[in-house]
Order: sequence, then structure tokens, then C-alpha cells
Amino acid sequence: MVIPRIKERSARYFRETVNNRRHLHQYPELSFQEAKTAEFIAAKLTEYGISFTPNVAGHGIVAVIEGQNPTDKCIALRADIDALPLNEHTHLPYSSAHNGVMHACGHDAHTAMLLTAARILFEMKNHFNGTIKLIFQHAEEKLPGGALGMLAAGVLENPAVSCMIGLHVLPELESGKAGFRPGPFMASGDEINIRVHGKGGHAAMPDQINDTVLIASQIVVGLQQVVSRMAPPLVPTVLSFGRLIADGAHNVIPNEVLIQGTFRTFDENWRKKGKELIVNIAQQTAAAAGAIAEVTIDSGYPVLINDPHITTIATSAAAEFLGNENIVILDQRMTTEDFAWYSQKVPACFIRLGTGNASKGITAGLHTPTFDIDENSLETGSGLLAWIALKQLDN
Ligand code: NI
Repeated sequence: MVIPRIKERSARYFRETVNNRRHLHQYPELSFQEAKTAEFIAAKLTEYGISFTPNVAGHGIVAVIEGQNPTDKCIALRADIDALPLNEHTHLPYSSAHNGVMHACGHDAHTAMLLTAARILFEMKNHFNGTIKLIFQHAEEKLPGGALGMLAAGVLENPAVSCMIGLHVLPELESGKAGFRPGPFMASGDEINIRVHGKGGHAAMPDQINDTVLIASQIVVGLQQVVSRMAPPLVPTVLSFGRLIADGAHNVIPNEVLIQGTFRTFDENWRKKGKELIVNIAQQTAAAAGAIAEVTIDSGYPVLINDPHITTIATSAAAEFLGNENIVILDQRMTTEDFAWYSQKVPACFIRLGTGNASKGITAGLHTPTFDIDENSLETGSGLLAWIALKQLDN
């Protein structure tokens, strides 16, 4: 049967998968700068005998494995390869050798697992129909995101991709488990920048100046009604401000105050309207106090949609591979992911792989300096990806 053959191979290549992950972990590269990472992936694909195209839209790599009757159907598996601007504090022997850069989102694991899945599928190519495309995508962590470039480079064409699978580690989920959710799964995210301009001056003479600090405060408070009063009650929405810079003094009100935040939701129509409301409320609040609010919104990733049919196939495939008891149906998440761009173009499924292990003390969250994974999950993930790819080709 196919599952034991995949499991035998993911076990046989487990040490190699771990070594690949550790190498990538030790030498992380920031978004749009993944030259050495891409070289490493290319070298491994070459070693495994898999043909590929390098330098796709930058440091992206697209590999292709043709099975029997390769024109039958093509499905794509995607891994992201970039790291984050963070100082690592794990004290692992293979912890980051690059100051201020860390694989704190598990993209090292994604890359290592996809390499092994590719190797397994390549060895089994005489036993399946269709084509499998392997997309190693750069720059997931930084707007505008590498996915847009990959799409513009035609990654879904030649041959045309009929569905796409992505996988992401999830430390809240124990190693050995996998999480799924059909429908809208991860939020859209837009970056809000508001500059309040006015005539600052002596704090003792508020009647003669614009109090830009008070105006900025009113804007932050006023914008709360976007979520509480204007958002459709059944659409999850978050508007958070994490940066508020008023660089005056005890007795100096500055000419300018900067407000920065993030707007996240699950409905593209409401997203568009919500952004208009943010602009209007900020501008009008400032105008009422005789100042100006200059608002720019940097559009981020759209809503990530898990196609219900593709997700049902992936979930039942995972249940066969891991056992029913290891399948978790997840809640929607307010985090964002540029896999969403693909999910807007082709039926897609984004899987979350359990990588936590409380008994080993592996519990740190994504994007933290102590983030780590239970490496046993690499064996689970590489086999699971290969199996789900075959099941999608079969359907
Ligand atoms: Ni990530």
C-alpha cells in the first residue's frame, strides 16, 4: 500500500530532513534576500535528481515532478523560505549564525519538509498519474509578499495548477497532529499609517496651538467604533494600533504625531469599506480640531480561503495518514499569510502542522526569540505532504 511506502521513506530520510532544517535554521535570510537559501534548495533538488527553475521572481524556485500521464492533472505544493528580523535566544547548537535574523516562523522546517516530500514523490513517480509542482517561495514575511511575484511569473501555468497545498507549523498544536479548517481561514491584513499635522508649541498655551497629541488620542479612540459599531457583527474584525509617536516633551506639543496599526478581517467587501471609514474618521477628527490627518493604508494580504472540497480531501487523507485522533478542526485565525494570494486564484488548502511538545518544553509561540519545533514533526509533515499530494491527484 502507498501509505506504508511513504512512511518508510519519510523515516529513512528523517535524519537528512533534520539536517536540512538545521542548516537552514543556522543560516537564515531575510525576505527578498534568500540567495544562499535558494542555492541550498537548488543543490538538494539537484542531488535528488529533480528538475527545477531557479530565480523565479527573485529567489523563488519551482520544481516539477512528472508522473505517468503527466498532462492528466497538476497539483502544487508550496513552502515559504524566508526568516524574520529577530535575535534568536534558543541556545540550540544550530541557532542562528546571522545576528538579528532568525527562522522564528518555521519556514526552515517548511522548506526541509517540502524537499523531503519532493524526494519521496520523485522516487514514486512511476506509480502516480499527473504532475506535481513544488513551489519554494521567497519573501512571505514582508509586503508585498513573494507570492504575488511568483503568480506574475506564471507559477500557476505550464502546466496549469488545478489545486494548491500549503503547510505551516503551529506550536500550539502538539507534534503528530494536523489542523484543518474549510472556508475563510486566515485574515486579510492592511497596514494603517496616520500622520496628524498641526501647529505645535508650548504646552502651557493650548489655546494658541493644535494639540496634536490629544487629536491623535481622539483618533485612536474614535476608530474603535469601526470594529464595535460599523463592522458586520458576524465578520471577525481587528483594528489594533501598536505605534504612537509624539516626540515632544513635558512642555512641548509636537507638530506631528504618527499612528500606526493593523486592520484585519475576513470579508473583502467589508475590508474595502472599513478602510474608507478609517480614512474618513481620522481626517474628520483632525479637521474638527483644526489639524490635518494624512492617512495612507498599505494593502497587505487578502483573506486566505481554504476551498471546502480540496480541504475535505486533505483532511480525510490526513486522517488516513495520522489517525482520526490526530486531526484537529481549527478556529479562524486573525494572522495573515501570503498563501492567501494563491487561494484567491486556484482551489487551495493551507494545513497547520503540530510542532509543539509540552513534555519537551517546546511551547514558544511563532515570531518569538525562543521559538523552536519538535523535530519529530518533520517526519510527519514530509510524509503527510507527499500523501496529500497523491490524494489530490487521485480526486
Ligand atoms: Ni510563517
